[in-house]
Amino acid sequence: MFENMNEKAAKSEILKLVAEYCDKFHTKKPYEEGDRIPYASRVYDRSEMVNLVDSSLEFWLTSGRYTDEFENKLAKYLGVRYCALVNSGSSANLNAFMALTSPLLGERAIKKGDEVITVAAGFPTTVTPMIQYGSVPVFVDVTIPQYNINVAMLEKALSEKTKAVMIAHTLGNPFDLKAVKEFCDKHNLWLVEDNCDALGSQYTIDGVTKFTGTIGDIGTSSFYPPHHMTMGEGGAVYTDNPLLNKIIRSFRDWGRDCSCPSGMDNLCGHRFDRQYGELPLGYDHKYVYSHFGYNLKATDMQAAIGCAQLEKFPSFVEKRKVNFNRLKAALEEASDKFIFPVACENSDPSWFGFIITCKEGVNRNTVVDYIEKQGIQTRMLFAGNLIKHPCFDVMRKTGEGYRTVGELKNTDRIMNDTFWVGVYPGMNDEMIDYMAKTIKEAVQQ
Ligand SMILES: Cc1ncc(COP(=O)(O)O)c(C=O)c1O
Repeated sequence: MFENMNEKAAKSEILKLVAEYCDKFHTKKPYEEGDRIPYASRVYDRSEMVNLVDSSLEFWLTSGRYTDEFENKLAKYLGVRYCALVNSGSSANLNAFMALTSPLLGERAIKKGDEVITVAAGFPTTVTPMIQYGSVPVFVDVTIPQYNINVAMLEKALSEKTKAVMIAHTLGNPFDLKAVKEFCDKHNLWLVEDNCDALGSQYTIDGVTKFTGTIGDIGTSSFYPPHHMTMGEGGAVYTDNPLLNKIIRSFRDWGRDCSCPSGMDNLCGHRFDRQYGELPLGYDHKYVYSHFGYNLKATDMQAAIGCAQLEKFPSFVEKRKVNFNRLKAALEEASDKFIFPVACENSDPSWFGFIITCKEGVNRNTVVDYIEKQGIQTRMLFAGNLIKHPCFDVMRKTGEGYRTVGELKNTDRIMNDTFWVGVYPGMNDEMIDYMAKTIKEAVQQ
């Protein structure tokens, strides 16, 4: 087939076929009542598949030109200076947290035994890096119907050992960034925004509207398929702080000191003439390690998919808002049975899902069982109360390694009475209306 063709022409022929293949075999058939409604799904077309195959044919494999493009475009979209692509949202949280342990941060570096304020009602890997490193998560309750940290508890959670606050914007709803940021500034604490479920959410602070993930010191994203956009597996860490960016990249790339991209050498011009640690003068900078790092890089194939997703991303955010509002309006009449979500003041959420807490007398498990049987996929608010999980068994017994501040009443309520359904951009009005009808039916049983 490629006889008489140069490489460029051959590639173009392949990509044309890929586009046709995608149109023919990956175009979703329209929704019909009775089809299962997932809580989330990938939304893509030929451009993602063409980019993926294009990158595969280049066969660079590791981070390369698509990674650069993605990092630059996401940073530009968010309005931050630096963005580092990583291989998952969990890796992004690990990378962000470990960056704050760097000796380059002097007195402000998080040390073993230092405390980090967080919540237990959420996803485990917001908290995991703290425990793995040997710092102490300090759990504060959340509010319902915002499902975010109760900022009235922040001062009570503070101790001499507090170094940071690290929390997620739950299901797209920004936490009270004004209160949390003021608290962090007042006490010289780091703020990490786990933005994995909130990409595209906005918050207005001091009259300026910004994207969530860009108001604290570091923000993180996940690109696992159910999230706001996808590349299969993937994540990002972003910051405006040049020192934090240098540290984030070092931890991501094996802990190395050098910042030359894969396949490039000596961009600083000092590869063989500097003194590091107790190494001999001029030791190859490419192999000088300033941190005990990881390899958290993603592949260029993932980044290639991400580049195509970014083009669609603003429309995804708008559709999520439309779906959320339609579902909320349709469910209004059931507000004697359920508590519906409320956006944080001064925010414009890019909703990840529609979260519902059952009022007294309504059994969450019965409701969930009914709507699942009617073909609607549901989710819990991840861990519910993380402290109740088997991974906490040893710590719960010894009472060591974490602290709670006051009672986690709403956290427990979420574990028992809360669930959520999707509002992803692939949903249409019919699907939303069917979900509303079914949720209302569930309490008429
Ligand atoms: C708030 C939050 N943080 C982090 C993660 C982890 O992301 P990943 O699955 O890409 O590791 C998730 C996953 O859904 C999440 O919801």
